[in-house]
Amino acid sequence: MEPHAVRVRSGARASARVAPTGMTGVRVKSPSHVALMLLIAVAMPAMAAAQDTLKPFTVVGDAIPFPLTGAKGDAARGRTIVTNRQVGLCLLCHSGPFPEEPLQGTLAPDLQGAGSRWSEGQLRLRIVDAARLNPSTIMPPYYRIDGLNRVGPSFRGKPVLSAEQIEDVIAFLVTLRD
Ligand code: HEC
Repeated sequence: MEPHAVRVRSGARASARVAPTGMTGVRVKSPSHVALMLLIAVAMPAMAAAQDTLKPFTVVGDAIPFPLTGAKGDAARGRTIVTNRQVGLCLLCHSGPFPEEPLQGTLAPDLQGAGSRWSEGQLRLRIVDAARLNPSTIMPPYYRIDGLNRVGPSFRGKPVLSAEQIEDVIAFLVTLRD
């Protein structure tokens, strides 16, 4: 557990440091200079976020043992993501214990029992990037930004789901026991 926890924490510290370090030693000279510095201060968090869109994670065997966010997700939110046809799109391919959903996919295993078949870490790698386990899978990588084809401009550089959303989905999937 330690190496991963340390990496995440040091990453967070590094990005937290960006703004103060950039600002030190600056002498305020004129109103326009002040305006410029304000603008940079406002833009900086966004720039830091763009550089660090994916949180670091460690793959061990066929699993990502530790949460991407350093915290457990929320199973109820995860269920919403899984059943939502705009966000997760999981039911395009999968079926599962969702009696309220009339149309469910038949291209992939039923999600019922996924939490018995796989550990939390195994589920995490399957959602993050299923192609690492099966290069010819049709399941989309939900937390990858490189090596993708034909990504619309507004989606470039962003994973399909955020790290928090991935953890919500995992928290839900582990509850799907036989
Ligand atoms: C385009 C189709 C497709 C979509 C969309 C998709 N999957 Fe999959 N998924 C698959 C296929 C096919 C497999 C079978 C293994 C493989 O091919 O990698 C699979 C495997 C899995 C497994 C392992 C299943 C098992 O028990 O063996 C889980 C869990 C899973 N998907 C969850 C999800 C979740 C959650 C989502 C949405 C966030 C999702 N999938 C979206 C096609 C899809």
